[in-house]
Amino acid sequence: MSRVPWVVGVSGASGTPYARAVINGLLAVQQPVDLVVSRAARLTILDETGLSFRDAHWRDDLATWLAHDVDDVRYWAAGDLGAGPASGSYPTQGMVVVPASTAAVAGIAVGLSKDLLQRAADVTLKERRPFVIVPRETPYTRSTLEHLLTLHDAGAVVLPASPGFYSAPQSVAQLVDFIAAKVLDTLGVEHDLMNRWTGMK
Ligand SMILES: Cc1cc2nc3c(=O)[nH]c(=O)nc-3n(C[C@H](O)[C@H](O)[C@H](O)COP(=O)(O)O)c2cc1C
Repeated sequence: MSRVPWVVGVSGASGTPYARAVINGLLAVQQPVDLVVSRAARLTILDETGLSFRDAHWRDDLATWLAHDVDDVRYWAAGDLGAGPASGSYPTQGMVVVPASTAAVAGIAVGLSKDLLQRAADVTLKERRPFVIVPRETPYTRSTLEHLLTLHDAGAVVLPASPGFYSAPQSVAQLVDFIAAKVLDTLGVEHDLMNRWTGMK
């Protein structure tokens, strides 16, 4: 089992349950996570979970949010541009940005690197490591569509937060898990988060 981490970037789009499900999916199979939460994502996490998620007490908030042991999570402050994931020489297996705001989509597409999340994304792409981005906005502007195409052409897997209904979900959690499952499939990480399509009965 590789102990090289996956970088998970949480940006300030609605849909923080998707981030929770992806992180828990990685931790469930002993995959370490390097976590970067953008400043705007603190607002969405606060809005969607009630947790303030400040750097000083990230561990407590993360453990509450995930309801999971967080020993395999390394947390990096969004403003820490000297952090490990800011350099290509820091080993990672790849990165997921989940959920991705249109601002993060744009910033990563043009290589802005305005914070650690965007810099780590730029590093992942330049090093040609697996990179998955989960945009959450609707509808999209032309600009966002162009940025997503740029990311696709740079090697990213663009995986919109648009769950399918063919597995007859009974709960919101199952819809969330559908997206986390697609992310983990793309990374090649084992999971049992969804019932797979086996053909129409
Ligand atoms: C409660 C809340 C929900 C938001 N939801 C979205 C969203 O679903 N999609 C999006 O692109 N931006 C959303 N935004 C706006 C982003 O947070 C904003 O564009 C921010 O600059 C993104 O910064 P970041 O990419 O550094 O996280 C939301 C903002 C707030 C406060």
